[in-house]
Amino acid sequence: MAPRIPSIPKTVDLTGQSVLVTGSNTGIGFENARQFLRLKASPVYLAVRSSTRGEAAKKLLLEDTIVKSENPGAVVEICEVDLASFDSIAKFAAKFNGVKQLNIAVLNAGVSFFKYIPTSDGYETVLQVNYLSNALLATHLLPLLKAGAVASGKPSHLAFVSSNMQHMTSFKKTSIKPEENIIDWFNNKANFGLDRYNVSKLLLTGFTNEFASKVGSDQVIINSMCPGLVATNFDTNSPFILKYFMKGVRSLMARTPEEGARALTLAATTGPEGSGKYYSDGKETPPAAFLLTEEGKAFQKKLWDQTLERIQTLDPSSPPPV
Ligand SMILES: NC(=O)c1ccc[n+]([C@@H]2O[C@H](COP(=O)([O-])OP(=O)(O)OC[C@H]3O[C@@H](n4cnc5c(N)ncnc54)[C@H](OP(=O)(O)O)[C@@H]3O)[C@@H](O)[C@H]2O)c1
Repeated sequence: MAPRIPSIPKTVDLTGQSVLVTGSNTGIGFENARQFLRLKASPVYLAVRSSTRGEAAKKLLLEDTIVKSENPGAVVEICEVDLASFDSIAKFAAKFNGVKQLNIAVLNAGVSFFKYIPTSDGYETVLQVNYLSNALLATHLLPLLKAGAVASGKPSHLAFVSSNMQHMTSFKKTSIKPEENIIDWFNNKANFGLDRYNVSKLLLTGFTNEFASKVGSDQVIINSMCPGLVATNFDTNSPFILKYFMKGVRSLMARTPEEGARALTLAATTGPEGSGKYYSDGKETPPAAFLLTEEGKAFQKKLWDQTLERIQTLDPSSPPPV
């Protein structure tokens, strides 16, 4: 059995702090939003792709007896954003910029597909939702997080929900030729594999590590984490047999969403020492071994450069993070 994710230290008090969690209408993200509310954060922004599902989640959160007693008057707001659309992210950002500052952002929304399905933007869905869109969203949120740090006098947090599946990728890094663009390589249908979800999380952790090295941890603490195997509806898009196999596995071995969400809350409330770290089971853990090699470090740097270049092209309104 997986070790228990530690409790949130009693000293964590988010009074006066604003928080945004993507994919917070259900699963781990929903429980993460509930934890932030129980820690007295307000407002908590539920960044979701369906406002109907967001409103239903908001109602449940505000009816929570602990939230009602410990965070009376807590504000929960719904923001619509579809990570399968760069235009939706740009529209979300234009509107959300009105909040002027933010203290914590947890980029949790994610998907898994075992088939190559292009979005209307022409990118493979898992690559776009789990990787490119999180990178784009993060660049839009960074100025708000920096402003939140100035206003509160303490660093803000940007936490990316990754996965230990990053340890299991089969792509041959050497098969990406030096002159090839990494994003185009992964977007090429010929290079799509059943490990696409795992690859998307490896890219996300690599990007996070590089991001953290560019932004001072006195401004924004940037890290990524894995919540472990959690009993959610994450297998919705999996092939029939796998979906039912995973349902059995999750019912026997998985953590509750509440416990999984603690991994997110812990990563999003570390001190500056947590910047650039990867967490699993609520503890600092090495990321995919490849990212620690010299080849992996060079790959990570190139990935960062090419990702920034691409998101600037896809959304010229995105502010350069450095
Ligand atoms: N469950 C696990 O065992 C596990 C393990 C490791 C890592 N994770 C990671 O944990 C995160 C949350 O997963 P979960 O288990 O809570 O899964 P989930 O219950 O399926 O929740 C996923 C969330 O992401 C949202 N989402 C999906 N596509 C989106 C899009 N295009 N735009 C905006 N939001 C979108 C979903 O919105 P809708 O409700 O509208 O679909 C939902 O709110 C994911 O990043 C996942 O990779 C999960």
